Order: sequence, then C-alpha cells, then structure tokens
Amino acid sequence: MKATIPCATKLITYTLIALWLPTVPAQDLSNDEVILVSQCLAVAAQQSWELGTRAQAILSLNATSYSVLTPSTPLPPARSIPDSLTSPLAPFFEIARSTVANRGNSNKNITGPQPLMADGSAADPASIGFAVLLANWTGQGLHDGLDYAGAAKDQLDYLQFDVPRTSDGAISHRVSQVQLWSDFVYMVPPFLAYYGMITGNRTLLVEAHDQIRLYRSYLRDTTANNLWKHVLLGTSGNDPGHWSTGNAWAAAGMLRVLGTIKNSQYANTLKPQQKDLAAWVLEIHGAMYPNLDPSSSLFPNYASQPASAPNNFLDASSTALLASTVYRLSLLWGTHKYLPYAERTRHALSAPNTNTSAPSNMTLLHIDAGGWLTPVVNPHSYGQEGAQSAEGQAFVVEMQAAWRDWVADGSKGANAALRTGSAGMGMRGWALVVLGICAGVLV
Ligand SMILES: *[C@@H]1O[C@H](CO)[C@@H](O)[C@H](O)[C@H]1NC(C)=O
Ligand SMILES: *[C@@H]1O[C@H](CO)[C@@H](O)[C@H](O)[C@H]1NC(C)=O
Ligand SMILES: *[C@@H]1O[C@H](CO)[C@@H](O)[C@H](O)[C@H]1NC(C)=O
Ligand SMILES: *[C@@H]1O[C@H](CO)[C@@H](O)[C@H](O)[C@H]1NC(C)=O
Ligand SMILES: *[C@@H]1O[C@H](CO)[C@@H](O)[C@H](O)[C@H]1NC(C)=O
Ligand SMILES: *[C@@H]1O[C@H](CO)[C@@H](O)[C@H](O)[C@H]1NC(C)=O
Repeated sequence: MKATIPCATKLITYTLIALWLPTVPAQDLSNDEVILVSQCLAVAAQQSWELGTRAQAILSLNATSYSVLTPSTPLPPARSIPDSLTSPLAPFFEIARSTVANRGNSNKNITGPQPLMADGSAADPASIGFAVLLANWTGQGLHDGLDYAGAAKDQLDYLQFDVPRTSDGAISHRVSQVQLWSDFVYMVPPFLAYYGMITGNRTLLVEAHDQIRLYRSYLRDTTANNLWKHVLLGTSGNDPGHWSTGNAWAAAGMLRVLGTIKNSQYANTLKPQQKDLAAWVLEIHGAMYPNLDPSSSLFPNYASQPASAPNNFLDASSTALLASTVYRLSLLWGTHKYLPYAERTRHALSAPNTNTSAPSNMTLLHIDAGGWLTPVVNPHSYGQEGAQSAEGQAFVVEMQAAWRDWVADGSKGANAALRTGSAGMGMRGWALVVLGICAGVLV
C-alpha cells in the first residue's frame, strides 16, 4: 500500500495534467492579427516578386480552390468564379490587371517576347505570370479589355528565347549575365507548370521539373548537409552563402510545381517528377532544421552560421516560409517528418511578448502592433537586417493558411511533435508512462 499511495496521487496528478494540456491556450495568431499582417503585405508589396508572392498568399488564405497547394482540387480550376470568391479574389486580379496595363510603360512599348515588368531580373517578373494566366482563364479580359493571354505568352517566350542559359539549359535568374539564384525556383518553374497545365502542354510541366533539377545540381551544397547556396555564376554579385530565405524559396517553389502536376491532367504520366520534387523539398527540410537557433527557434539569415556570427542575425521571414512548406508537404504528399519543427517555429512566431522592457507596441514577440513581422532580412539587400519585409508578411500568411489547412486535415504528424518537442517526450508522454506504471502497481 505504501508504494501505491504516492503512485495513486501521481496517477491523479498526471491524468489531470494530461487532460488539461490540450486546452492550454495555444500560441496561434488570431484572425485579427492575420488581417493586420495582410494589410501590411498589401501596402508593402511593390516589386515584381513581392506582387507575385502576395498573389499566392491571397489564394492560400482566402481562395483555396484556386491554389495549386490545395490537395485534390482538380486543375484547371473553375472558369466561372463562385460568388463567394469574387471579393477575396479582387486584390489578386488587381495585381494581374495593373501589371499587364503598365507593361508597355515598363517595356517601352516593345512587342513580342518581354517580361511582365522590366526590373533587371529575368525571373522575378514571371512570378506574376500565375495571376495573369488565371486572369485569362477566368475571362477578366472581357471586363477590362486587356490581353492577358498575350502578356503571359510574351513572358513565356521571353524566358524561352531571350534570357541567357547555362550550357546545360538552366535559365538565368538575371538578364545581363548567366547567374543562378535559389529564388528562381519560386519565380519561374511554378509559372511554367501552370502555363502548361492551362494550355494543355505537358512539355512545360516537364520543363518546370527540369529547371528545378538543373538549379539543384548547381546550388545544392553536398559539403553543407545539402543546404542550397544562394547565388552562383556570373562576374559579379555572387553569394555562395546558405541564405535561409533562398532555401525556403526553393522548397516553396518545388511544392507549387508538385501541387500543379499532382492536381493536373498529367498526374499519372508525371509520377517520377512528383517523387523527385517531394524528395527535394524534404531534403531542404533536413538540411535547414538542424540550424534553428536553439533559444529563439528562428533561422539565422545564413543558416549554416550561428545568428551571432559577424553580419548574421535572426530572420523570421525564412522561418515562416519554411514552416509553411512543412505543412504543405504533409498535406500534398503525406510526409510529416518535420512537423515538430514547423510547430515549434510557428509557436515561436506567434508567441506573446512577455518581456516588460520591450517596446510597448510589441504585444507579440515577433509581430508588432501594426502587424509587421520582426526581425527580418532586408528583402532588397539580402545580407542586411531590414525593418519591414513584404515577402515576410506574405510568408506569415502562408504559414498560417498552411497550418489551418493542416489542422483541418487532422493535424497529421502532431503526435510526433509531442514526442520530440523541446520538453523531450512531452508531459503527455510522461503522464501516459506513469499511468502505465501505476496501472501495473495497482493491479
Ligand atoms: C483575407 O480576407 C480577409 C477578410 O476578408 C482580409 O481582411 C485579408 O486582407 C485577406 N488576406 C489576404 C492575404 O488576402
Ligand atoms: C507607349 O505607348 C503609349 C500609347 O501609345 C504612350 O502613351 C506611351 O507614352 C508610350 N510609352 C513609352 C515608354 O514609350
Ligand atoms: C487563355 O484562356 C483560354 C480560355 O479562355 C484558353 O483556351 C487559353 O489557352 C488561355 N491562354 C493562355 C496563354 O493561358
Ligand atoms: C508546348 O511548349 C513547348 C515549349 O514551349 C513548345 O515548343 C511547343 O510548341 C508547345 N506545344 C504546343 C502544342 O503548343
Ligand atoms: C527585452 O527587451 C529589451 C528591449 O527591447 C531587450 O534589450 C532585451 O534583450 C529583452 N530581453 C529578453 C530576455 O529578450
Ligand atoms: C514600434 O516601436 C518601434 C520602436 O519604437 C518602432 O520602430 C515601430 O515602428 C513601432 N511599430 C508600430 C506599429 O508602432
């Protein structure tokens, strides 16, 4: 009896803890916070890739039936927009409209192959191509008279015929010289894949996969646990460092191509391509997550060096985007391996601020009262810490939307999170062990 009394006490205590734990207020962003983050995104997104990235965030959060990341949503999508989506999609189509309407100014009224915007990057303007394709597909030109199909074709032809390439065919990220940036994977292959799906041209989906394969062959650093380097080749502007956002861009771009293929009419004949893409996303997760800063659960701007290294710092932007890709891989491919890390980083990014000497506008640790994510890399100067980042805002939206969809799908892999969370096996795990032992003693 002597031994069973404390054990019974423990049994009760741990049972209570086990019952109470799931109801602990979770560190999740509220709806109001996500709306504020979205507002900042709308204000900040001005550059080509920021507009393209914002367009995707709008779909992920507010019009999921038009997102290629939504599992089992047959492509091509509905040409007639459901009434419920007219208003959520308005800012999405406005991005396509203003871009196509201003294309002449940006490109000096040339005709034929041209980017959707002339900004020196061969790749970034193509990120808006997805919105332009969907504007064409859903007949926006009937209302505003713009030639969306022509603009999309000019952008495609520009990439295929005008932009320089490596000898083995990788399309350059820059116009003036052949140079490969990890960012490219988010900007171009998803556009190629969506173009191919919409126009019924399988070759373009194969090309999307092939461009990613080529980029991986150059940028993946096998001496650094498969982290991707940021910028290679060209005479100036190289950045062989393992830029965290670049790794996240690559994983997120791969997922969009995977989702496009998997939901398309070519799913059955492009199985090996899908397998590659899923494996390459997982490879980046495996390369990146061991580099999380242990105390903040954020990535350093350059993943392979501690945040305290000279010129390095913590970056919430890449942390948010990579987390979104973990939930998306779980949803699209049933791989849940890095869920514990995604949850850990999402909790960190959603955490309340308990530091009383921090500025009073910081009610959350990493999102200020105005809705801005912090700390973030300067998106226009990737080696420096910045103040406000349009892409960072979009990445928070992507993280939140992906997490929401993952919860709706049954939080698969969540138990792994409890086993390997920062508290070791977790209180619930220990409670079950004690339950088991006590059960044995009592019997
Ligand atoms: C999503 O919809 C909400 C509510 O309508 C809106 O406030 C928010 O700005 C939208 N977010 C994005 C990223 O479009
Ligand atoms: C392009 O053409 C339009 C209409 O003809 C004209 O108003 C505009 O000034 C031209 N822009 C440039 C940059 O040439
Ligand atoms: C534009 O949409 C039409 C359907 O209205 C489709 O047949 C055509 O292939 C699309 N063109 C492009 C370039 O997406
Ligand atoms: C499909 O795309 C490829 C690559 O752009 C092009 O060469 C080919 O002509 C296209 N096929 C059709 C039927 O449009
Ligand atoms: C609390 O905030 C102050 C002011 O921003 C900062 O200097 C300090 O490092 C913070 N303390 C912790 C434990 O984060
Ligand atoms: C919060 O305070 C910091 C430091 O005073 C300032 O830089 C930032 O702009 C403020 N944000 C808002 C939303 O007021």
